[in-house]
Amino acid sequence: MLMRDFIEDSLYNPNYGYFSRQVVIFSPGDPFNFNAMASEHEFFQQLSRRYTDFEDALDAQEPYQEPDDLRQLWHTPTELFSPYYGEAIARYLVEDYRFNFYPYHDLNIYEMGAGNGTMMLNILDFIRDEYPEVYERTKYKIIEISTQLATLQQQGLGASSYARGHSDKVEIINRSIFDWDQYVSSPCYFLALEVFDNFAHDAIKYDFETGEPYQSQVIIDSRGEMFENYTRKLDPLARQFLERRQAACENYTHPLQGSRLMHNLRSLVPFRSSLSQPEYIPTRLMQFFYMLYQKFPNHKLISSDFNVLSDAVPGYNAPVVQTRYKRQMIPVSTPLVHQGYFDILFPTDFNVIEPMYTAITGRFARTYSHEDFMSGRADIEETQTRNGENPLLSWYKNASVMITV
Ligand SMILES: C[S@@+](CC[C@H](N)C(=O)[O-])C[C@H]1O[C@@H](n2cnc3c(N)ncnc32)[C@H](O)[C@@H]1O
Repeated sequence: MLMRDFIEDSLYNPNYGYFSRQVVIFSPGDPFNFNAMASEHEFFQQLSRRYTDFEDALDAQEPYQEPDDLRQLWHTPTELFSPYYGEAIARYLVEDYRFNFYPYHDLNIYEMGAGNGTMMLNILDFIRDEYPEVYERTKYKIIEISTQLATLQQQGLGASSYARGHSDKVEIINRSIFDWDQYVSSPCYFLALEVFDNFAHDAIKYDFETGEPYQSQVIIDSRGEMFENYTRKLDPLARQFLERRQAACENYTHPLQGSRLMHNLRSLVPFRSSLSQPEYIPTRLMQFFYMLYQKFPNHKLISSDFNVLSDAVPGYNAPVVQTRYKRQMIPVSTPLVHQGYFDILFPTDFNVIEPMYTAITGRFARTYSHEDFMSGRADIEETQTRNGENPLLSWYKNASVMITV
């Protein structure tokens, strides 16, 4: 199978995929009181304590079983900085909606991959409290591939009478975005927060001498051992990606194709492969942009993701492949690992993705650092510690926010 089919199966197979089995997204409970903390360091200490309490409580929920050594627990800015991060996004949505669409259109929000559903609750609470006239016009739809997480999102809506009030505004659709078949003609906002990183990628190697691309195919033998084979025949989607990238990114020179002289020298070294390191290309992300273009022609995208990741496997634009064992994250050095036990997450190269988004959808976008986007929209006073540090701004240095302008 193609590398992207292998990754997709590992992450999303409904029976054994990573997102169908053991996933738990950390929730800190009550919002952190940043103003009462001395410094960012104190935030870190409080967070570590709440993390431990959270896991202890999960272990205690099932007293007759051993503590779950393989529980896949992780956190996102939505959760760590709830409700402030969600409120910053809500401020942006309301401001843009009031400027461009109110009162002629409803505020239609689509959120793809909503995790625990916290962003939805934070946005709806904020709009209800601050802009009741906009709240009247708000509709919120979640498109979620994981049945386990879709169920959790539904439960969150019923968790308190406060949250229950949003029920008639929300629809949770348990489906992959790639199976979406409705045409949405009205203007809408489309949120994708930390979802691109889990979209499957293909792996490509380049011939040192000719620069020709070769595509990875994964082979699993009868004993379950996994191998990669690179073939000269590209599948249509990988070919389309390489062509689209070349057309959309002016003067794009591929880092793995590099200097011809160096490559020629390398090819003289005996027993050396004539193919480069792999490059991981975001074929599924390109397909998502086509989906936006075809099914949501009047969307405005608000996306956030990692622009770089540490502990990645070898290669260019390569993923981190990791599992959590006995409360420790363990990174490994290949994506060819037992399906369902490992998270596989990729960095996003916004320098490439932004022009490709524009070329495919015909809409312009702008990319901000996480800090720049948040400084303009978050409640900076509420998220500041006593010594003037602000974890909402200074954490997630490796994240970017790309929005349609
Ligand atoms: C890393 S989590 C982020 C959750 C949430 N947005 C947050 O920031 O807390 C990725 C989410 O995307 C969902 N997801 C991944 N691929 C998807 C797809 N093709 N269609 C819909 N949801 C998807 C996952 O199930 C999960 O809810």
